[in-house]
Amino acid sequence: MLVNMKGILEDAVKSNRTVAAFNVFGYEDAKAVIEAAEESNAPVILMTNKDAVEFMDIEYFAKLFGIMAKKAKVPVCIHLDHAKDYGLIARAIKVGYTSVMYDGSQLPLEENIENTKEVVKLANACNVTVEGEIGSVAYSDKNLDVKSIYTEPEEAEYFAKETKVHALAVAIGTLHRMQVQEAEIQYDRLEKIIKLIDTPIVIHGSTGVKDEDLQRLTKYNVGKVNIGTALRMAFANTLREEMGNNPNIFDRTKLFRRPMEEVKKVAVSKIKLLGW
Ligand code: G3H
Ligand code: ZN
Repeated sequence: MLVNMKGILEDAVKSNRTVAAFNVFGYEDAKAVIEAAEESNAPVILMTNKDAVEFMDIEYFAKLFGIMAKKAKVPVCIHLDHAKDYGLIARAIKVGYTSVMYDGSQLPLEENIENTKEVVKLANACNVTVEGEIGSVAYSDKNLDVKSIYTEPEEAEYFAKETKVHALAVAIGTLHRMQVQEAEIQYDRLEKIIKLIDTPIVIHGSTGVKDEDLQRLTKYNVGKVNIGTALRMAFANTLREEMGNNPNIFDRTKLFRRPMEEVKKVAVSKIKLLGW
């Protein structure tokens, strides 16, 4: 069933659970993630990031993921991740994305708010949900020039009230693209934020979040956690192994089988930690 983010996030936080959102790049990982969600009887969010958008036209992703979502036995949302460009967001909505993130995290507060409001206006008219970001979650890759700025609770409150986003990404100690689970979550900051706003919270860079923290976050109005690197590592590391072990196989449908199984295993375990 193809859905936007609103209902699944609201239902999840009411029952102290969190929806897993995974970055996917094509049929193989999307299929593995949907199977994981179906097996866990959990809603799930398929996210398209900048690398995916540069690799393939979003219209193809929208059609492929849209068909897969409609056929799924659980609610599946198709979400454009970290978009900084209004034109790209408008196009994603036009071709069938049910949810978008406007990432104005590197802009001054008022500019972030104004741009996010424009996106919310467009999205609301199309029954599409919007995630905004306040503060900034940086990257563990040193060459990516993204400032790390922890979210100030009062700014989060102001941003949520002004923009009326459906979900709000905050920076409370995570970092994108960590390959080990070593993030130090600032629960005091998160507690202050959730005291001030009802909007479901989103945690980015959740590959780096420890298992016990994924479980704990479900108790704090966290509606969505974003996981990308963990699945990419599972797919690529297994594919490398498969190719090394089977130097004579050149058929991708055979080579991709085990990587897809490993992606599914990681997705099932993350979904389980989030309360499903
Ligand atoms: O927006 C995507 C996520 O924040 C993914 O982060 O690749 O570090 O898990 P991650
Ligand atoms: Zn992110």
